Amino acid sequence: MKFLVTAGPTQEPIDSVRYLSNYSSGKMGYALAEAARRAGHQVTLVSGPTALKPPAKIRVIPVTTAIEMRRAVMQYFRGSDVVIKVAAVADYRPVRQIKGKMKKGKKNLSLKLTLNPDILKELGKKKKRNQILVGFAAEAGQKISEAKRKLKEKNCDWIVFNDISKKGVGFGSDQNKVTLLSRTGQVIPLKKASKKIIATYIVYAITRLNMGR
Ligand code: CTP
Repeated sequence: MKFLVTAGPTQEPIDSVRYLSNYSSGKMGYALAEAARRAGHQVTLVSGPTALKPPAKIRVIPVTTAIEMRRAVMQYFRGSDVVIKVAAVADYRPVRQIKGKMKKGKKNLSLKLTLNPDILKELGKKKKRNQILVGFAAEAGQKISEAKRKLKEKNCDWIVFNDISKKGVGFGSDQNKVTLLSRTGQVIPLKKASKKIIATYIVYAITRLNMGR
């Protein structure tokens, strides 16, 4: 099958030398892209800026901002059988990008931000019946109900609930602890494991269990 995976953070420029971003390392997304390739699928990886090596035998499309990520995702979406949106897209971007380096002056400074497009939600609206759409829900200590809400609201087949408040899992870590939720109500809690093992299971579940359809 043709897989489209997004990974890493996005960076939203404030001026020519500063940006807004988050601590996403891209490890979970890259692990998923590699797990899909190992399972014999053809993989395109749309990646925000990360320190990771581009994986072998995977087409990597580097992007920086949420707007760029959206453009790349829309380009490859139609030809994809499975889309996994792991990327930690910045919810907001500065309204204006200042040319050059902003000088300091005022004691207090406010940045005016505007909402970025919700790429996953847009895909949920465009999705064809035979396409499998998988989202991630990064929740800091919040309940699984929040992940269920996102599953429904963004019209996903699966959502991977990721409690990022737990020590040693989630953002930046090599380990993760997730629960898979399917459109049809299945709840599959996975044991804490390496992102590689978790990724292998996720690829298996979304392509073989066929419960999310
Ligand atoms: N997502 C997206 N575009 C955005 C924001 C999020 O495509 N602008 C996707 C993420 O890639 C992820 C899913 O939506 O697959 C959920 O992201 P998350 O950050 O958990 O939730 P949000 O929808 O941003 O909601 P909130 O930040 O309020 O929890």
